[in-house]
Amino acid sequence: MTAKIIDGKTIAAKVREELAQKIVSENGQDMPVLAVILVGDNEASRIYVRNKKKAAAEVGIGCEVLEFSDTIGEHALLEVIDELNKNSYINGIIVQLPLPKHIDSLHILSKIRPEKDVDGFNPYNAGLLACREPDAIVSATPRGILKLLESTGIELTGKHAVVIGRSNIVGRPVSMLLLNQDCTVSITHSKTENLSEIVRQGDIVVAACGCAKLVKKEWIKEGAVIIDVGINRVDGKLCGDVDFDAVCEKAAFITPVPGGVGPMTVAMLLENTYEAFKKQQKLKTDHVCQCGGHGCGCHHK
Ligand code: GUN
Repeated sequence: MTAKIIDGKTIAAKVREELAQKIVSENGQDMPVLAVILVGDNEASRIYVRNKKKAAAEVGIGCEVLEFSDTIGEHALLEVIDELNKNSYINGIIVQLPLPKHIDSLHILSKIRPEKDVDGFNPYNAGLLACREPDAIVSATPRGILKLLESTGIELTGKHAVVIGRSNIVGRPVSMLLLNQDCTVSITHSKTENLSEIVRQGDIVVAACGCAKLVKKEWIKEGAVIIDVGINRVDGKLCGDVDFDAVCEKAAFITPVPGGVGPMTVAMLLENTYEAFKKQQKLKTDHVCQCGGHGCGCHHK
């Protein structure tokens, strides 16, 4: 068997194109706006943020990047978030991770207003997803993964999905999302015993552990669907968590690195921002304020 490539780049371009059309046709002068908080000078984070800003501009979403030195304290960062939460011009807020070690990331993320938490990293949104609440804002990479799986046309119900990695950003939310799609989900991690045997049971394998080429051909069930979330650099070359060339000989579908999950993350972040904007617009127009005005932008409890 030679695996079919799941072309994330093309699927993401289509998501962005449809979004751009919706934004132009539905919203006139009104533009969704995303605020991105970037702390310190992590090179990878800078590249990710630059890509997000560029992609946002292309679909008609405003993007304001707020940069801070890595000496910023937690209290000062919380004040920034508080301001953005209150600012009715801002529809989505994300904090580029990782944050410097002296800052408690979860504490910061938990202070983003859930309606503006377009990364879905606030524990409130993570909890809604775990409770199968449709109102949850679901983080971008897991949403993108689901879209890639849907593009294969395979039925998810009853399938055994093996997730490698248990991070708050990918492993945990994608496991919840797959469970909500009626998959049987095994969550594995660095302490899992007999990892290869568990992966071999997977009809779907999501590799999100950050170990270059960890997943070998011998670990794969014939005809499995492989989603590779890893972005590793080996000898200056990008590669995923899956031994791509060999695994291609056994899988039915596989995502490449680069060009698989990565482009979907940005596209789904933009979609989350647009959806947050629409919900906030609706709340504004539905809301009759105590000052007597509709959609006046006041912040009454
Ligand atoms: N760092 C690595 N991935 C992500 C992501 O999806 N969002 C944010 N905010 N930070 C990240």
